[in-house]
Amino acid sequence: MTISLRTMLILTFVMLVISTQVLAGSSDDNCDPKMGITFMNWRNWTPVTVKPVVSEGHSNNWVGVFVNKIAKAKYLSAGSPYPVCAKIVKPIYLDETGTKVLKLTVMLKMPPGYDPENGDWWYASYDKTGEFSWQQGKLSGCIPCHKQATDTDYLFSREVRKAAK
Ligand code: HEC
Repeated sequence: MTISLRTMLILTFVMLVISTQVLAGSSDDNCDPKMGITFMNWRNWTPVTVKPVVSEGHSNNWVGVFVNKIAKAKYLSAGSPYPVCAKIVKPIYLDETGTKVLKLTVMLKMPPGYDPENGDWWYASYDKTGEFSWQQGKLSGCIPCHKQATDTDYLFSREVRKAAK
C-alpha cells in the first residue's frame, strides 16, 4: 500500500515534469517545428521598425519586422550568418497605424543540414494570433525571393532598416 502510494507520487511528479516541458516547448524558446511552434509573443520582441513601413516584397502592404533575442544583433548590424533559433516575424498590417494584423510571415533559422542550399531557413505563414499556421517549412513561394539577399543570410535586413528610418 505504502509502495503504491509512493509510486503514485513519483508518477504524478514525472507527469508534471513532462507536461511542463511540453508547455515550454510550445513557447517562445522552442525552435523545433515538430514540437509545434507558435509566435504569440512577437509584440514583446525587438522591433526593427518603430512604425509600420510599406513592404516592397510583400505586395506593398504595411508591415513591421520584429526579431527575437537570438536574431537581434545580426539583424541590427545587417550581419550574417544568423545563430540557430533566430526568429524573425513580419506582421502584415491592415493599415498604416499597425493596430490590426492581417497575418504573420515568419522565418526561423534551423540547425545546419535542414536546407543547406537555402541557408537552413524555415518559413511559415501564421494567422494574426501567431498560433495557427497554414503553411510552413521549405516554402517554394518564399525561398526564390529571399535568395536575393544571401549576403545578409536571406534576410532583407539592410533594406528594412533603411525603410524604418
Ligand atoms: C516577391 C518577393 C518575396 C516573396 C515571395 C517573399 N518575401 Fe519575404 N520579404 C521580401 C522583401 C523584399 C522583404 C523586406 C521587407 C519588405 O519589403 O517587405 C521581406 C521580408 C520578410 C521578412 C522580414 C525579415 C527580412 O528582413 O527579410 C520575413 C520574416 C519574410 N519576408 C518572410 C517571408 C515568407 C514566410 C514568405 C513566403 C510565405 C516570403 N517572405 C515571401 C520579399 C519576398
